[in-house]
Amino acid sequence: MPATRLQDIRACVFDAYGTLFDVHSAVGKFRPRLGDAADRVSALWRTKQLEYTWLRSLMRHHADFWQVTGDALDYALDTFGISDSALRRDLMDAYLHLECYPDVHDTLARLKRGGLATAILSNGSPAMLAAVVENTGLGDLVDLILSVEEVGVYKPDPRVYHLAMERLGLKAQAIAFISSNGWDAVGAAACGLRVAWINRAGQRRERLPFAPEMEVRTLGEMAGPP
Ligand code: LAC
Repeated sequence: MPATRLQDIRACVFDAYGTLFDVHSAVGKFRPRLGDAADRVSALWRTKQLEYTWLRSLMRHHADFWQVTGDALDYALDTFGISDSALRRDLMDAYLHLECYPDVHDTLARLKRGGLATAILSNGSPAMLAAVVENTGLGDLVDLILSVEEVGVYKPDPRVYHLAMERLGLKAQAIAFISSNGWDAVGAAACGLRVAWINRAGQRRERLPFAPEMEVRTLGEMAGPP
């Protein structure tokens, strides 16, 4: 987000999975044990994980993101005929040790030096988020970690984005929401947040009402010049 557009922003609120943390780094650690199916397992794991969040919210049968992530992994492993309880345990544990994208530390440090509050707003359960923030050394760079568990429903339900406004004590217009997930960017924009979409994969814009204010390829670009 160019400096000119950041001037009236007081806080930067980040999505976690896919935006700060590379969800595919979990499977990346165990590639030899998954063989040729590794990338497809990872893609299906993520797709099912998100589908289950949306479906559970519509069904009004919430379970936390650890449960949903495990259910999605079971679906993906079963699809590829993989039955290996040690591998399942290792992949779930890897979710607590995901890698950050390379520009995360520098971007968060730069925003904080610029006087902005930093927060995470994620589907992740409080325990999952606390672990991955600690394990990636981001603890000092994130002021507030907010989990959907506080509202008991998943993104893009408006209650999730309103939680950020309530807990930061700021109006939507004063909050930049940063996500690499196009649908999450749209959900936040629908609630009036100022949205930067980190379109790492060069995807098309979602055909949904509301659009991000800014679209960039990397987190570094969002934060403006060093
Ligand atoms: C999150 C999901 C969208 O972190 O990845 O909320």
